[in-house]
Amino acid sequence: MKHELVEKNAGLLGALILVAISFGGLAEIVPLFFQKDTTEPVDGLEPLSALELEGRAIYRREGCVGCHSQMIRPFRAETERFGHYSVAGEGLYEHNFLWGSKRTGPDLARVGGRYSDAWHRAHMYNPRDVVPESIMPAYPWLFERKIDGATTAARMRALKRLGVPYSQEQIESAEEQVRGATEIDALIAYLQQLGTVLEGTR
Ligand code: HEC
Repeated sequence: MKHELVEKNAGLLGALILVAISFGGLAEIVPLFFQKDTTEPVDGLEPLSALELEGRAIYRREGCVGCHSQMIRPFRAETERFGHYSVAGEGLYEHNFLWGSKRTGPDLARVGGRYSDAWHRAHMYNPRDVVPESIMPAYPWLFERKIDGATTAARMRALKRLGVPYSQEQIESAEEQVRGATEIDALIAYLQQLGTVLEGTR
């Protein structure tokens, strides 16, 4: 009997088990490649400006993702604290994703607009000045270092290849737009736009 053949052959059984259990995964994952919800940008999604893009690079360089997620899950405890849960269409221009998986600090997916620029400056210079119990490191060097913009346009071009709709004009003016800004200006510009595109999220 065919069933006996499967039962007596561990390799075959294992392979068939894999096929059987992958159906659940396929049924969940494959539709995501075709649904409008997950493949199209949310209304009003724009590529990051030159300065915001530089800020994002600093966020990566400084390892902020090691303590902060940017992914609000659709649970009440999260949406009450951080705002509307994250949706796929918000992250379409993100290369690489900065979702993170560690929350030593709060989620930052919708931190944009929550505090003033001045608050962020004080907080990044020394978190204890504004949140006495904070264990976040201080980043004073961001206030001294300037951005030269030598690689901004090249990075925009690379992102364009991946489908981020930068215009020729944006790419050409990129260097000029960031040159001379301090790293803290760029980082705050990046933080202040996080999660703001989805309307009614705060
Ligand atoms: C060692 C872990 C750690 C690292 C690394 C870290 N943070 Fe934090 N962050 C925290 C903690 C803890 C808090 C909560 C206390 C506070 O507000 O300072 C916090 C709070 C924040 C807040 C306020 C969020 C809110 O909703 O109140 C922002 C913004 C922030 N961090 C940005 C950054 C940025 C940008 C970087 C990288 C330059 C960074 N953090 C790196 C731990 C960290």
